[in-house]
Amino acid sequence: MEVIIAQADVIGELVADEIAGLLTRAPTAVLGLATGSSPLLIYRSLIERHRRGELSFARARAFTLDEYVGLPDGHPCSYRRVIDDEFVSHVDFAPGAVCAPDGAAADPVVAGDAYDRALVASGGVDLQILGIGAVGHIAFNEPGSSFASRTRVKTLTDQTRRDNARFFGGDVDAVPRHCLTQGLGTIMEARRIFVVAIGAGKAEAVSHLVEGSVSARWPATILQHHPHVTVLVDDAAASRLHLVDYYRDVRAHRYLVS
Ligand code: GLP
Repeated sequence: MEVIIAQADVIGELVADEIAGLLTRAPTAVLGLATGSSPLLIYRSLIERHRRGELSFARARAFTLDEYVGLPDGHPCSYRRVIDDEFVSHVDFAPGAVCAPDGAAADPVVAGDAYDRALVASGGVDLQILGIGAVGHIAFNEPGSSFASRTRVKTLTDQTRRDNARFFGGDVDAVPRHCLTQGLGTIMEARRIFVVAIGAGKAEAVSHLVEGSVSARWPATILQHHPHVTVLVDDAAASRLHLVDYYRDVRAHRYLVS
């Protein structure tokens, strides 16, 4: 696990560089997109590059991580709508190239299974962007999630509903209790993973992710078992890490494979 401590805007550029590099090498790559505030600087940088004519998504595909259950199609807080508004509608993905779990389906359990199968059938995610929740979730895999889980319905913790109430006008009761989320087993199949965490509110979860014991109490810790994860944090999110000097040293003296 590589740890990079940098300012938020630098983090956005670094991950955008990786995505641009991937799409240059492999224009038909499959991207894993996250919603939430942390990845926004990545999306802004990608949109800029696209506007400058440097980057095209025309042959790429993408899968989002999660969705609330029960919000009607097009609801401004639905993650499908958010990813469209913040990123997808500003670049040139082909129609239908970006898939999201269908939280408005008549049977979300069936929709979750179908989504997981579609993801696997696509060949799998080449590069996954992840945020991390204060409770240690990735996507909506709340504490106690099985490390083998696939896309399924989960019940949100009160903490997550409170954290996300800001997107619902501050009204925690408006935040759905259930979600459809890729499982930890699903996410672990992504070939390359970038986790982005900004702000002091993420410091505890980041300390568990990077330096804690692997435990379903802090679901993101399963990423310690993934062979190719980079965690990008600002100073505030890094504030509870013990080995900060070492992480900075590794970055300053990178071993470059020729
Ligand atoms: C949300 C999403 C996660 C996201 C996390 C952090 O609840 N389900 O996918 O990574 O919380 O969000 P933010 O980046 O806004 O702090």
